[in-house]
Amino acid sequence: MRLVLLGPPGAGKGTLANQVHEKFQVAHISTGDILREEMKSGSELGQEAKGYVESGGLVPDQLVTRLIESRLSRKETSDTGFLLDGFPRTTAQAEDLDKILETNGIPLEFAVLMEAGLPVIVQRLTGRRVCRQCGALYHIQNMPPQKQGVCDRCGGELYQRPDDTEETIKKRMDVYYEKTAPIIDFYAQQDKLKKIDAEKETAQLLKDLEAFIKDFDDASDQDQNAARS
Ligand code: AP5
Repeated sequence: MRLVLLGPPGAGKGTLANQVHEKFQVAHISTGDILREEMKSGSELGQEAKGYVESGGLVPDQLVTRLIESRLSRKETSDTGFLLDGFPRTTAQAEDLDKILETNGIPLEFAVLMEAGLPVIVQRLTGRRVCRQCGALYHIQNMPPQKQGVCDRCGGELYQRPDDTEETIKKRMDVYYEKTAPIIDFYAQQDKLKKIDAEKETAQLLKDLEAFIKDFDDASDQDQNAARS
């Protein structure tokens, strides 16, 4: 499996990617998670990214593309396949991704656009809580932890991301429409775009995604059989 998850902030990319990772053991590569880890560790890269991430802007293309290139070049990633979450986010990143995948001989299968309207996005982002220790995702109404403020999985403290305020969400949405939405056409032109209604519950989204994967695998089998005969 070699997929990109596209969609506005809060569409549920990370939540769905976690489910796919658990079910298929595929590498889940989230540029947002990687950047937050770097910020937490205080690395040079983290310090450089902090201002962009916390204000809702985009980190420069070169910096994130280098991060992704190094992840995609790992042998385990080409063995297990990957699910990219939060990358690409600009047309330049999408073009660079194609080049990296071509060099590594692991072309993208398809990109999934998770569509959700603004009211759902704002409700999801303002209610999101994240475990400081293991990164597990919760929502105060949609997916509450058993004990308020405590991670079910590891007992870590839950916190609210600093970019999940209404003001920063608005900036992130503006950036999404301006910089990221053009990628939808980029993948449509390559005939690699699939769409799902991300307002449904996660279990249904997983089923929708699995249906796309099955269709893709069936079509690849047919192509191989046709080439052999
Ligand atoms: P990133 O972390 O990628 O943020 P994002 O794209 O804004 O996406 P989110 O993580 O906010 O949302 P999500 O779609 O993953 O939703 P989630 O599953 O958490 O990036 C953060 C920042 O890093 C960027 O602003 C930028 O500065 C920088 N950055 C990252 N990548 C970059 C790049 N490539 N180039 C440049 N800069 C980059 O769900 C949200 C909430 O909803 C959760 O509480 C969840 O419990 C709930 N929920 C999810 N699904 C459902 C559902 N189906 N039903 C009900 N509730 C649900």
